[in-house]
Amino acid sequence: MIAQLTRSERQLALVMLVITAVFGLVVAIVGRNDPLGIHGALVALLAIVATFRVITDYYQPEPNEDRSRHYYDDPTKVGIVLAMAWAVFGMFVGDWVAWLLAYPDLTFDAAWSSFGRLRPVHTTGVIFGFGGNGLIATSFYVMQRTSRARLAGQLTPWFVLFGYNLFCIIAVTGYMMGVTQSKEYAEPEWYADVLLVIVWVTYLVLYLQTLARRKEPHIYVANWYYLAFILVVAMLHIVNNLAIPVSLGHSKSYSAFSGVQDAMTQWWYGHNAVAFFLTAGFLGMMYYFLPKQAGRPLFSYRLSIISFWGITFLYMWASAANALLTLNGAWDKVRDDATLRFMMVAAVFYGLTTFEGSFMAIRPVNSLSHYTDWTVGHVHAGALGWVAMITFGSIYASVPWLWKCKTMYSPRLVEAHFWFAVAGTIIYVFAMWNSGIVQGLMWRTYSESGTLTYSFIDSLIAMHPYYIARAVGGLLFLIGAVIGAYNIWMTIRMVSQTADELADRPELLPAGAALQQAE
Ligand code: HEM
Ligand code: HEM
Repeated sequence: MIAQLTRSERQLALVMLVITAVFGLVVAIVGRNDPLGIHGALVALLAIVATFRVITDYYQPEPNEDRSRHYYDDPTKVGIVLAMAWAVFGMFVGDWVAWLLAYPDLTFDAAWSSFGRLRPVHTTGVIFGFGGNGLIATSFYVMQRTSRARLAGQLTPWFVLFGYNLFCIIAVTGYMMGVTQSKEYAEPEWYADVLLVIVWVTYLVLYLQTLARRKEPHIYVANWYYLAFILVVAMLHIVNNLAIPVSLGHSKSYSAFSGVQDAMTQWWYGHNAVAFFLTAGFLGMMYYFLPKQAGRPLFSYRLSIISFWGITFLYMWASAANALLTLNGAWDKVRDDATLRFMMVAAVFYGLTTFEGSFMAIRPVNSLSHYTDWTVGHVHAGALGWVAMITFGSIYASVPWLWKCKTMYSPRLVEAHFWFAVAGTIIYVFAMWNSGIVQGLMWRTYSESGTLTYSFIDSLIAMHPYYIARAVGGLLFLIGAVIGAYNIWMTIRMVSQTADELADRPELLPAGAALQQAE
C-alpha cells in the first residue's frame, strides 16, 4: 500500500490523517451529549490508527520512477477485500433479520438489535458496503484497462475508498444507536451525508481525470455505465438529503422538504438509486468481466449502447439478451467454469428481475403486490440473483488477474459457493413469491357480508412457514459468501507465501543486494 507512495505523498497522507483525527476530536467534544460525539471519537480513533500505519512504513523504499507505466491496483485489491468483509457482515445481519421475522424474540431484549435498527444495518451493509466497494474496486480496475491509463492520483483513490467505508461505518453504527433520518436507503444523518458528498464528488473527478488521460480513443461502454452510476448517485444523494441540522452538535436534522414533497423526493431518490446503484453500476461490471472471462467479444456493441440510453431514460432489458448472446459459442466454458456461471446466472436474473419489475409496475398487478413480500422477493431476485452474482463472478475473475496467480486457491470452493448461492436465491425468491401473493390475496378477500375475511394477524400466521424457508435460503446464501471470503483470503495468502519463498532464495539477488536495500 504505502510502498507505492513517494516520501512527499506519505507526508501529505500524514497531514490529512492528523487533520482528520483533530477534526474527529473536535466533533467528539462538541457533540459529547449526542451520538454525534461517539462518531467523532470513532473518526479520531480510526484516523490515529491509520496515522500509525503510515508511520510504520514511512521509511520503506520509495517506488520506482516508472510507476506511471503500471496500473495502480492496490486500491482495487483492498476494495475487494472490504467488499467481501461487508458481504459476510451484511448477509449475516440479513439472515438475522429474516429469522427475526419468523421468531420476533431474537433481539436479546436490546434496543440496538431491534428489527427497526437491524434492517437498515442489513440494507446498508449489503448495498453500500458490499455492492459499493465492489463497484468502486472494479471501476478502478476496468477504467484503467479500457483506457490504458493509470489512475489519476496516488492518494485520491485511497481517499475515495476509505472515505466511503468510513461513511458506511458511521451509517451502520449510527442505526444501532438509533440515529436515522428514516428515509429508506438514505437513513444516515446530515454529517454522514456531507462526508459522502465530498467522497463521491472526488470519485467523479478522479474518474473523469483518468478518462481524460486515456490512450484509447474510444470510451468503452462499461465506463459509460460506471460514469452514469457515479453521476446520477451524486445528484440523487445531494437532492434527497437536503436537510437542516438541529444544531452542529446534534445528529438530528429536519428535511428541507415536507409532507408529500418529502415522500415524492424520497422515492424519486429511492427507485432511481435502485436503477443507477443496483443496476447501471453492475452493468458496467458485467460489460467488462463477462466477455473477458468468456474470451469472446460482446455479441453486439450497438445493442449495449441502445441499452445504455434505454436504462438512462426508461430502464430496460436489452443488456440481459446481449450478455447471454455473448456467451453463444462459449457454453462449454459456462459448463466448466463456475466463475463464468456466476455471470451467466446474473444475466438470467437480471432479465428476470427487470421483466418482473415491469410487470409489477402495471397498476392492477401493483395493487396486489404493493406492501407485500412480493416486493421483497423481487428485490432479492435482483439483489442476490443479479447484484451479488455478478459481483462474485467479477471478483473471482479479477482476483487471479490482480494477484497474478493461475487460479483461485480452490476452484472447487468456487463451485461450492456457486451452488450454495443458486440454491439460496431460488429458495428465498420462491418463498417470497408465495408469501407475497398469499398476503395480497388474503388482504383483499371479502366475505359475503362485505367484510374482510382475514384479519391482519391471520395473514401474519400464514407467512410463518415462508419466513422460515426464506431464512434457510438466506443461510445457504450466507454460507456461500463465507466460503467465497475464505477462498479469496487463502488465494491472497498463497500468493504472498510464494512471493516470500521466492524472495528468500539467495541466487535471485545479486551479491550484496540485500545489504544495499537495508541501507
Ligand atoms: C443472506 C442473504 C440475505 C438475506 C437473508 C436477506 C434478508 C432480508 C430481509 C429479511 C429483509 C427485510 C424484509 C422485510 O422487511 O420484510 C431484507 C431487505 C432488503 N434486502 Fe436483503 N437479504 C440478503 C441479501 C441481500 C443482498 C445481497 C442485498 C443487496 C445487494 C439485499 C438488499 C435488500 C434490500 C434492498 C432490502 C429492502 C427491501 C424493501 O424495502 O423492499 N439483501 N433482506
Ligand atoms: C425494468 C426493470 C425494473 C422495474 C420496472 C422494476 C419495478 C419495480 C416495482 C414496480 C417495484 C415495486 C414498487 C412498490 O410497489 O412499492 C420495485 C421495487 C424494487 N425493485 Fe425493482 N424493478 C426493476 C428492476 C430491478 C432491479 C434490477 C433491481 C436490483 C436489485 C430492483 C430492485 C428493487 C428494489 C430494491 C425495490 C424495493 C424498493 C423498496 O420499496 O424499498 N429492481 N421495482
